[in-house]
Amino acid sequence: HTTTVGIIGGGPAGLLLARLLHNSGIDCVVLESRDRAYVEQRQRAGILEQATVDVLRSSGAGERLDREGIVHDGIELRFDRRGHRIDFPGLTGGRRVWIYAQTEVCKDLIALQLADGAPLLFEAQVHSVEGADTDRPVIRYTHEGREQTLTCDYVVGADGFHGVARSAIPESLKRTYERVYPYSWLGILADVPPSCDELIYAHSPRGFALHSMRSPTVSRLYLQVPNGTDPADWSDERIWDELDARFAIDGDWKLERGPITSKAVLPMRSFVTEPMRYGRVLLAGDAAHIVPPTGAKGLNLAAADVIVLARAFARLKETGSAELLDAYSDTCLRRVWRAEHFSYFMTTTLHTDPDQSPFDTRLQISQLDRVAASPHAAAELAENYAGLPIG
Ligand code: FAD
Ligand code: DHB
Repeated sequence: HTTTVGIIGGGPAGLLLARLLHNSGIDCVVLESRDRAYVEQRQRAGILEQATVDVLRSSGAGERLDREGIVHDGIELRFDRRGHRIDFPGLTGGRRVWIYAQTEVCKDLIALQLADGAPLLFEAQVHSVEGADTDRPVIRYTHEGREQTLTCDYVVGADGFHGVARSAIPESLKRTYERVYPYSWLGILADVPPSCDELIYAHSPRGFALHSMRSPTVSRLYLQVPNGTDPADWSDERIWDELDARFAIDGDWKLERGPITSKAVLPMRSFVTEPMRYGRVLLAGDAAHIVPPTGAKGLNLAAADVIVLARAFARLKETGSAELLDAYSDTCLRRVWRAEHFSYFMTTTLHTDPDQSPFDTRLQISQLDRVAASPHAAAELAENYAGLPIG
């Protein structure tokens, strides 16, 4: 088989790229190792930035998002037993965010792709990419029990952090930057209406907590827990009691409880590979970079990469110029590092490091006070959260 762009990975990055290429009349094939149900049900991100929503709409994947997505114009920072709201549109010139889960984005893109798009193969496990530095790179994969090859003009590695595409970049040319955090998140889904209209990011002496949501009847909450935590050690009652303690404020507020339908522990990591391109292999999304989830940048960064990439492929097709493709890695990395810093800032400002001193805690509170008191400090947070323009 042959194609113009061979895409490894059918997560949000691979699926959105396939849609954008299809709309530009560029053919591609998506190879995804898991089955459709797995990809559609994997619980992950929940917040879409303005630019992500804009691209889903303009690519034709915004219909259900416009019906079911929930617009948020701000977040609450909670610390020192007080709440402080950050208003996004007022601080950013009208930008806002949407609650619309990654599972739903994937379902919508998969349905479109299977209806009229390029081939999307599930249970197609890629083993290797060969000839990255030639004009015809080859993807080797197994599908329906048979070894197959896909010969491409370009290969896009959108296969996540544990994918194989990154290894197509020779070790001698690759630089990686990494930080592992000394805590994880215990994430739950609960069948109970959210106890807030907007997300609450809480700093507390007992550690970080986040109140998010999936719909008017489903809440999503996270608790900072030690690395290596077994979710089985956390009964439903223990989880609700701990959430209650971390969200506590002086004043009226009550956390509603309900049946917990899912519990999982997520490790936290920052990671960047440079460059994001070698020869005719280009990396996009988690294959190239990971952020800790505080600040909700992961999925949005993946979308930003493929927007830049789709424009570059369209330019190549229309004019024969590879100028934008050649600039791809530098263009993306500027935005990636900004998101790395923001995610690191949100994470380290709101979590309690097990080795943290009282001095460190006072610095965190001082920083949060500054955001609460100064429109300049708040605008810096709001611009990063609602998402910076795509370069
Ligand atoms: P992925 O979604 O990882 O997709 C990669 C795809 O490639 C997968 O479908 C995988 O099955 C496939 N693949 C891998 N290897 C191969 C292979 N060899 N052959 C074929 N296919 C392959 N972000 C947030 O903003 N908020 C959150 O709350 C949040 N929670 C998260 C929780 C978890 C457990 C994880 C892992 C991530 C979370 N993220 C969150 C980050 C966000 O989900 C990712 O940034 C986003 O999924 C990136 O999309 P992607 O398409 O680049 O990668
Ligand atoms: C969600 C996850 C995040 O990491 C975040 O910062 C906000 C919301 C969520 O899953 O809803």
